[in-house]
Amino acid sequence: MNLKGKVALITGANAGIGNAILTKLAELGCNISFVDIAHNELTENTIKRVEALGLKCRFFQSDVSNFQDAEIIIQKIISEFGKIDILVNNAGINKDSVIWKMTEEQWDSVIDVNLKGYFNYVRAVAPLFKDQCNGKIVNITSINGLRGKFGQSNYSAAKAGIIGFTKALAKELGKYSINVNAVAPGMINTDMMKNIPEAARTAALQETVLNRIGSPEDIANAVAFLCSDLSKHITGEIIKVDGGQYI
Ligand SMILES: NC(=O)c1ccc[n+]([C@@H]2O[C@H](COP(=O)([O-])OP(=O)(O)OC[C@H]3O[C@@H](n4cnc5c(N)ncnc54)[C@H](O)[C@@H]3O)[C@@H](O)[C@H]2O)c1
Repeated sequence: MNLKGKVALITGANAGIGNAILTKLAELGCNISFVDIAHNELTENTIKRVEALGLKCRFFQSDVSNFQDAEIIIQKIISEFGKIDILVNNAGINKDSVIWKMTEEQWDSVIDVNLKGYFNYVRAVAPLFKDQCNGKIVNITSINGLRGKFGQSNYSAAKAGIIGFTKALAKELGKYSINVNAVAPGMINTDMMKNIPEAARTAALQETVLNRIGSPEDIANAVAFLCSDLSKHITGEIIKVDGGQYI
């Protein structure tokens, strides 16, 4: 796989799965822009790592649920890099609760980040991709959007929404040679897992048929494939990367 000369934008790429995706795309020669709500030592280390590869790297601190920010950030990337080839919508949160205890804030914030946040960036980049007649969009969803998860009705609803969103986008954008796909991870070893009770982590491990919890790099490898020319005839697909947890 080779992404030399390409320009990618990855959301929520300061840590976890997003950072692994960023690293993989950079290793394949892709220039990087990334958005995150946090700005800390991880951000600066990431920029240094990418620049050490001789690539351009630009960071934007923002909450992906902010519609205006998405528009401004996309315009800044276009003026600095000249184009964008790849959008990876990854930023996500979980605020788990059974439905009879879920607050309006838990519902709204998860929908705002995990569903509206993805819309914001696709809406901002779609006119450019359409004009270029070229572009790859990869949305990170979850197997819990496919099967529903106890205690995660807000998260499952947002992630299921992303699956419908991905398929509709594939239909709207296909005639402009734009591929739109989603990756649905099972449980992956990141900070997000720290919010999950130990018993649920053990149960997830037992659900996998490969008897392993996935790594962020497992997801990054699938995303890199979907960003490359190797997947040029694949669109509207939801690829599970879950060690068989769903089956
Ligand atoms: N870890 C898992 O088991 C798992 C499983 C399935 C799907 N996912 C999905 O993968 C994606 C990444 O998850 P992760 O495990 O790496 O999470 P993480 O918590 O480790 O990292 C999330 C990153 O997104 C950033 N972020 C959070 N809210 C943001 C916002 N409003 N705007 C911008 N940036 C924001 C965080 O600062 C962080 O850098 C999410 O969409 C998540 O739902 C994760």
